[in-house]
Amino acid sequence: VDPDSVPYFSLALLPSPISNGRTRTTHGSVTVVGLGPAGPEWMTPQVRTAIAAADDLVGYGPYLDRLPSNAGQRKHGSDNRVESERAAFALDLAAKGQRVVVVSSGDPGVFAMASAVLEVACEPAYAAVPVEVLPGLTAAQAVASRIGAPLGHDYAVLSLSDRLKPWEVIAARITAAAQADLALAIYNPASRTRTWQVGAMRDLLLEHRDPGTPVVVGRDVGGPEEQVTVTTLGDLEPGIVDMRCLLIVGSSTTQVAPRADGRRVVYTPRRYPSRGA
Ligand SMILES: C[S@@+](CC[C@H](N)C(=O)[O-])C[C@H]1O[C@@H](n2cnc3c(N)ncnc32)[C@H](O)[C@@H]1O
Repeated sequence: VDPDSVPYFSLALLPSPISNGRTRTTHGSVTVVGLGPAGPEWMTPQVRTAIAAADDLVGYGPYLDRLPSNAGQRKHGSDNRVESERAAFALDLAAKGQRVVVVSSGDPGVFAMASAVLEVACEPAYAAVPVEVLPGLTAAQAVASRIGAPLGHDYAVLSLSDRLKPWEVIAARITAAAQADLALAIYNPASRTRTWQVGAMRDLLLEHRDPGTPVVVGRDVGGPEEQVTVTTLGDLEPGIVDMRCLLIVGSSTTQVAPRADGRRVVYTPRRYPSRGA
């Protein structure tokens, strides 16, 4: 089954699983949710309700730690690098009749667990397990809102991680987005072992974009170590970027403006200047 061609709700309407040649009735399901980028106020009421109704919660340990303990629920924490195993584990529990919630940070469809769960759910063994995806607030929106509206016009979303795709693909997309004058929201910019990608991205962007282009570095937004820095592409210092950061690179129209309270806002106007204007 090509997941792109099947609306998620149709997965939930498939018949009950076949087990040992017999049709088995089950109320099990997998719901993939996003907790938001930080803090309970960024979790939607819909996600809160799904979590409260779950028998089993599956996810990366630190994300599960953000949820209150509930005596009737089991938490299954794991490493953040075993997405397909975690997905299969959740689907196996659901096939046995459990209501399973798989948690991601932010939105589960943005560089997170929803794709991994659907990829495994579309294997024949799991075709009958109902799967639902509930949206969450993604980090790009959280960072953007802290500083104004830098993503107010067209923008592209990229992950700088070359763990799941080759750097050549990432570099080609950075160049294409720069040529198209799109603002950029950059997820997974760096980690303890990936330290050169931010500098390489900056150098690729500077081939097509002015050094004065505004750049926002949002770190741990909504969390205890929140820091939002406004700099320029020419001055972007890769050393200030780590895995808890999201970068927003402006387009040619993105503005940085002072406010009476001494703070600066960054915004990208919705109106695009006409050619030759
Ligand atoms: C694996 S991705 C998960 C993204 C998540 N699904 C979302 O929609 O926000 C992890 C990356 O999201 C970004 N991120 C997540 N939470 C953040 C926060 N509170 N502040 C800044 N960036 C954050 C960082 O770029 C981090 O490296």
